[in-house]
Amino acid sequence: MAKANGNKPRVLSGIQPSGNLTIGNYLGALKQWVAVQREYDCFYCVVDLHAITVAQAPAELRRKTRESAAIYIAAGIDPEISTIFVQSHIPAHSELAWILTCMAPLGWLQRMTQFKDKTAKQMQDSIGAGLLNYPSLMAADILLYQAELVPVGDDQNQHLEFTRDLAQRFNHLYGETFTMPSVMNPQAGARIMGLDRPTAKMSKSEESDNHAIFLLDDVGRARKKIGRAVTDSFREIRFSEDKERAGINNLLTIYQAITDEPRASIEAHFSDKGYGDLKREVADCVADTLAPLQARYQELMEEAGYLDSVLKIGREKAGEIAEATLKKAQENIGFLAPS
Ligand code: TRP
Repeated sequence: MAKANGNKPRVLSGIQPSGNLTIGNYLGALKQWVAVQREYDCFYCVVDLHAITVAQAPAELRRKTRESAAIYIAAGIDPEISTIFVQSHIPAHSELAWILTCMAPLGWLQRMTQFKDKTAKQMQDSIGAGLLNYPSLMAADILLYQAELVPVGDDQNQHLEFTRDLAQRFNHLYGETFTMPSVMNPQAGARIMGLDRPTAKMSKSEESDNHAIFLLDDVGRARKKIGRAVTDSFREIRFSEDKERAGINNLLTIYQAITDEPRASIEAHFSDKGYGDLKREVADCVADTLAPLQARYQELMEEAGYLDSVLKIGREKAGEIAEATLKKAQENIGFLAPS
């Protein structure tokens, strides 16, 4: 069967099913995934192998993996156009990750900011080695599909650089095997910050109740969280890199990422308005984003068998490509082909 997107450049991206997806995941990644799906041959993965780099409760992990896939679709990823799959369904990810792990310099891995952040407050003996090798697995995800573009939030740029470095190293040592991928950051919304702490990226695993807006938050609850968002005492609504103004900047960034309006016209729009107006308008556009997504999500969860059939088709399509690349890498590195 000919694929609709057969000759287009390939895109691959993924999100961990390690928490409830937030508006930050939507504006920083999903929205862009949707926007590019007609232009590229897109593969969108639920990265459960990455999720287990920190402890996960089995039943929760299973539930969140399905939930994440349903959210991809509810956010507008069309399974007729894009390929949606679960990372652990395709053994080639783990297999290539091992090969890449063997080629990844320890120093590079130890210098990754995400690794440093995630392990900063822990004792050596309580840090799983998977956290260190996380970038090699991510490189495998991307390289298996010969992806040319990887749409991610800008906090992932270092991992993309690492992927490129590894690909180059492999190609240099063992011959042309992998396509060099490039990063694709969204124009606005690459980094949505926590509402309660606008100097830290909005995280799906943060405990505090007013930190993140979850995509499945009841709309009234989402409005309340925005109402409680940290602001400042400058009484001035403009984009700013200033730490003291991070709260207002974050609300404006959310507004911009949703409306796609230029910054200047957003600032003009709010020039004679107050923080209360800003919060209300941000809450309105967030509500307009969440409501249709949640309606579609409910339908998907009630449609018995549909989601599983999407993941099955995804597994078949993705598996075929991943297997072919893995085989090439195994041959090039010198593994004896099984007879
Ligand atoms: N590391 C990414 C994140 O935390 C998730 C991820 C895993 C990913 N594999 C990927 C993103 C491959 C893009 C491509 O957001």
